[in-house]
Amino acid sequence: MTSLQNISHEQDIKQLANIAHTIWNEYFPSIIGHAQVDYMVEKFQSQSAITKQLQQGHEYFFICDGDQRVGYIGLVANSNKDALQISKFYLLKDIRGKGHGKAIIDQIRDMAKTKGFSQLYLTVNKYNEAAISVYKKLGFVISGDMVIDIEGGFVMDDYEMNMPVTG
Ligand SMILES: CC(C)(COP(=O)(O)OP(=O)(O)OC[C@H]1O[C@@H](n2cnc3c(N)ncnc32)[C@H](O)[C@@H]1OP(=O)(O)O)[C@@H](O)C(=O)NCCC(=O)NCCS
Repeated sequence: MTSLQNISHEQDIKQLANIAHTIWNEYFPSIIGHAQVDYMVEKFQSQSAITKQLQQGHEYFFICDGDQRVGYIGLVANSNKDALQISKFYLLKDIRGKGHGKAIIDQIRDMAKTKGFSQLYLTVNKYNEAAISVYKKLGFVISGDMVIDIEGGFVMDDYEMNMPVTG
């Protein structure tokens, strides 16, 4: 049973930052290199960065398999695109490929419908081929691409993908 658990308390944010650190250091060095992983984890997924994002209106949820916290998502409204943006979507290594991602996307679609958005939107690194394949299988299409300067000498070289919420 795959469920979502809202994150707001300090202890949960601390655990979230630990899970983020584990996943990013396991998965992303082969795609963006260790230096950029260190930089992005500190800038976007440290306890203080997550706390600030929550204050700015982002939402974070643990992905739970039964009572185990096995990953997390981040969501933020993107009113320019009339979309609920999935800004983070990460599972621990041993948990991938078992259908949790599909179950979570179904739940995020329901949340987007309830909030009145017409689509889901996300960005994904152009060289993250596994995730791009998953997103395509789940019904997302590539809708654009972008290179974002995140300072520190690094860029995010991403595709944009979206999926309608209706139906
Ligand atoms: C992306 C991620 C969240 C998807 O969750 P998941 O639980 O692994 O996905 P699922 O098992 O629900 O698979 C969904 C579909 O994609 C397919 N799929 C799963 N892994 C795949 C892979 N590596 N390559 C191609 N297709 C894959 C599944 O067969 C399934 O298709 P189906 O519904 O037709 O059977 C997870 O794999 C992950 O955390 N990856 C590492 C971090 C990451 O890249 N996050 C995204 C950053 S933008």
